[in-house]
This record gives sequence, structure tokens and C-alpha cells, in this order.
Amino acid sequence: MKTTLSIIKADIGSVGGHIKPSKSLIERVKEYIETQGGGIVIDFYISSTGDDIAILFSHTQGVGSEKIHKLAWDAFLAGTEVAKEQGLYGAGQDLLKDSFSGNVRGMGPAVAEIEFEERPNEPFLMFAADKTDPGAYNLPLFLAFADPMYCAGLILSPSMAKGFTFTIMDVAYTEGDRIIELNAPEELYDIAALLRDNQRFVIESIRSRSTGEIAVAVSTTRLHNIAGKYTGKDDPVMLARVQGAFPATGEVLAPYNIGHYVAGFMRGSHTGPLMPVRLNSAISFFDGPPVVSCAAFCVHNGKLTEPVDAFDHPYWDWVRDNVARKATDMRQQGFSGAAMLPYSELEYGGIVEKLKVLDKRFNVR
Ligand code: F6R
Ligand code: MG
Ligand code: MG
Repeated sequence: MKTTLSIIKADIGSVGGHIKPSKSLIERVKEYIETQGGGIVIDFYISSTGDDIAILFSHTQGVGSEKIHKLAWDAFLAGTEVAKEQGLYGAGQDLLKDSFSGNVRGMGPAVAEIEFEERPNEPFLMFAADKTDPGAYNLPLFLAFADPMYCAGLILSPSMAKGFTFTIMDVAYTEGDRIIELNAPEELYDIAALLRDNQRFVIESIRSRSTGEIAVAVSTTRLHNIAGKYTGKDDPVMLARVQGAFPATGEVLAPYNIGHYVAGFMRGSHTGPLMPVRLNSAISFFDGPPVVSCAAFCVHNGKLTEPVDAFDHPYWDWVRDNVARKATDMRQQGFSGAAMLPYSELEYGGIVEKLKVLDKRFNVR
């Protein structure tokens, strides 16, 4: 039996600004899946990260299943009804199309899915980030799957000695999925050359070269490409199988101690450090900082264990303090230089209008 894990995530409204969905909204989504998911879903888990709600499904329908995607879409519609009733901010924000057409990809929600033959014990991690974009996972994944400075298993474990294949997507291309496959370690510099540009090239998936097995899947949506205008950042989700032929849980988590600077933060238009936070955390300082949460599970015959909150540990409190300092340092320079994203990535059109008006007032002396 092959098991599929699908994580589908959307911002469908939140309390007090873009900071956290309401309890009633989350309850409604849960109730919808409990009552409508029979026969389709083996198990599911719901969590929130910032203003986003994520549904993790385990099932046997395979990747891209219309039944699973429709169930998630309809659950989000049911949640949106509650958001409207409660007057939540941004109700239905990420549901960008009026009617469902087979797959939620390209309709607003973020999706990451993997299908695999379960190992006798199958640990995996579910990541969800808010106030940032899919490129936020580029550096941590590169370090966890290709750099022995972070992943000791690359040196110590025979089952990882051949390295990993990275599938990288050009997310600026909108006609279809433009992808490249590169092998670590031989093509490490080529991988790095692409991954440095987090807004253009995004890791879509990673496979083990020893077993051919899928290790990682990342959501690669660009909401801007779908809607043609800003509707919110592309707050990405990710699934990562761990241990054995894959990096250990701690090796995948380790790079999040950097708090590397990513795109997002206030109005999706700034640079801020990625803070690893506890499950179901809200958003606060300057609509940020960009956050990432991680739930660790085992799955057996499609049944999920309870989640363990991977960033709920005293070590990560120390990291959070450091990241808060990095966020403050960057915020001290306001709109200047590196603090605000380049023109092409600004998520609000206001500045375009402003520059058009100012352009007319320039004189050549
Ligand atoms: C970023 C985000 C927020 C909003 C900001 C303004 O992803 O959601 O930073 O951009 O709160 O929101 P609006 O334009 O809805 O008033
Ligand atoms: Mg929002
Ligand atoms: Mg969000």
C-alpha cells in the first residue's frame, strides 16, 4: 500500500489583522473534514501558522487527487463562511477562483504532496511558514541535504553517501512548470548558483540517490502569478521524510538556527529573518517577523501519531532571541536599501503610481 501525504494551506481570514485564524474558523474546517472526508481520508491534522490554516491529509489517493483537493477546497469554503459571519479580516483571501476545477494548484492555496511505500517506521516533518515565500526553504534544505557542515549523515551514513537529487523550479515562468534536476554533491555549485535567487528558483522536491525515494516536497505557488496582483505572500508549506536514508530530524532542523533573511514581513515587501516558532503561533512585530513552524509525526498504515512541536524546546528560545535581535537590526533602517525588497518584488502597487507621478516632475538639467 502506498501512502500519500498532502498538505494544503490557505489564508481564509484572521482575527485582529493578518495574524491568526479564529478558533471557530478552525473548528469549522475540522468539522467539515470529519463529516465529509469519510472513505477518502485515512487521517488528518489541522494547524495554524500566523494567518494561515494548514490541513495535513494522509490517504491512498495519490498525488494531485481531485477528491482530496476538492475536500480541502470545500473545507476552506466552509471556513470562509465562518470568517464572513465573524467579520474576520481577509475572509477567503487565498481562494482566488470562483469554482473548483480539479486541483487546488493555481487556485490560491499552497500544496505539497509526497507518495511513498511506508517504511516499517516512517517519521516525517511538516513545515509551515508565514509572511514569506517558498524560496525561504532553499537555504535550510541545501544545508540539510548537501552540506556536511550541517548534515553529519552525508559523511557518516553509508545510505546517504551518494547524495541527493534536487528538482528546482523557475517560478518566474508562468506558462507551465519549468524545472531542472541537479545532483549533489557533483553539481553543488550549480545548485547554489540557482538557489541564491530565492524569488526565482525554488526547490520543489528532493530525492535520495541511493534509493530513488522522495524525501522532500515544497509548495511552489506564486500567488502574484495567479492573481496578477498582490493578494498576500505565498506562505509556503513543506513535507520532509527523515531518518535512515534521509537526514535525521535534527539535521533538517539545524539550519533554522541561522534565522536567515528572507523576503516577506510587513506587506510582503520587506526583508526579515526567519524565526522558528511553536505550532499555532500568531504574527506580531511589523506583521512578522517571517515565521516557520514544524510538526514531527510518524505515520503507519496511513494513521498519524500525535504531532510533536519540533521548535518547542529551550534551545529554540535562545534562537528566537537571536532572531528577534536580527529583526530589530534590520527594522532600524526602515525603508532603506536591503530592508525593503527590490522594486520587482514589492507586493503593493502604490509605489508604481507614485513613481509615475514623480517621473513627470523630473527635469534634465
Ligand atoms: C503580509 C500581510 C500583511 C499585510 C498588511 C496590510 O503577508 O499579510 O503584512 O500586507 O497588514 O494589509 P492590508 O493591505 O490588507 O490592509
Ligand atoms: Mg493574510
Ligand atoms: Mg499568511
